[in-house]
Amino acid sequence: MLCFIDTRGCIFVGLEKKKMKLTYYGHSCFAVEAGGKILLFDPFIKPNELAKKIDIKSIKADYILLSHGHSDHTADCIELAKQTNATVIAAFEITEWISKQGVEKFHPMNIGGKWDFDFGTVKCVNAAHSSVLPDGTYGGNPMGFVITTTDKTFYYSGDTALIMDMQLVPRWGKPDFAVLCIGDNFTMGIEDAIEAAKMVKANVAIGVHYDTFGFIKIDHQQAKTAFKNAGIDLQLPAIGETIEL
Ligand code: NI
Ligand code: MN
Repeated sequence: MLCFIDTRGCIFVGLEKKKMKLTYYGHSCFAVEAGGKILLFDPFIKPNELAKKIDIKSIKADYILLSHGHSDHTADCIELAKQTNATVIAAFEITEWISKQGVEKFHPMNIGGKWDFDFGTVKCVNAAHSSVLPDGTYGGNPMGFVITTTDKTFYYSGDTALIMDMQLVPRWGKPDFAVLCIGDNFTMGIEDAIEAAKMVKANVAIGVHYDTFGFIKIDHQQAKTAFKNAGIDLQLPAIGETIEL
């Protein structure tokens, strides 16, 4: 239960959880503020033509989470880890790779594992995709994350096909929202992402991994309508936009 007093001295009591801020940086890169910390996911900003207006120097992070090794998820990881002094959370093989490039703060994980951090709990879940680092180094298995905090619980699919394993997600934490790849061709498309949202029991979805390249361009209105018809609110924040969830 939450109790708070507003500027007029009115006391509010409610069960509403605190809202969580999410900033979209294009492709699959986004940041959330959780438990007083900033978590940045899959940084791919400098090489993204659509994210030219984002100044990477302005980005702050306490943690950087990487779903897998592909360059469209890791391109700016080393630079941002050094710039922000953030702790990188990723598959063991990826943390080995970043440590060889001078990143000192990292936390290796793997599918099925969970860890309590100072912002909440990270559970690494299955993703059906591939994972190799930009220089050809093996990246281990691709992952999704279930993040549980005192503010909100959410699921980030990473790059993945629709998989039955998604039905397990609510056992670890019923998501208040799900960040899902929707661009098709390399990952789930809209139809499969709708099924994914249903499986993880999320009523709100944030779409990522679309429009960046020719193969993954989508019709925004068509996507929103398809989700709406399934009873799910699809949000597609503009690059650089911060939304509250
Ligand atoms: Ni990928
Ligand atoms: Mn990708």
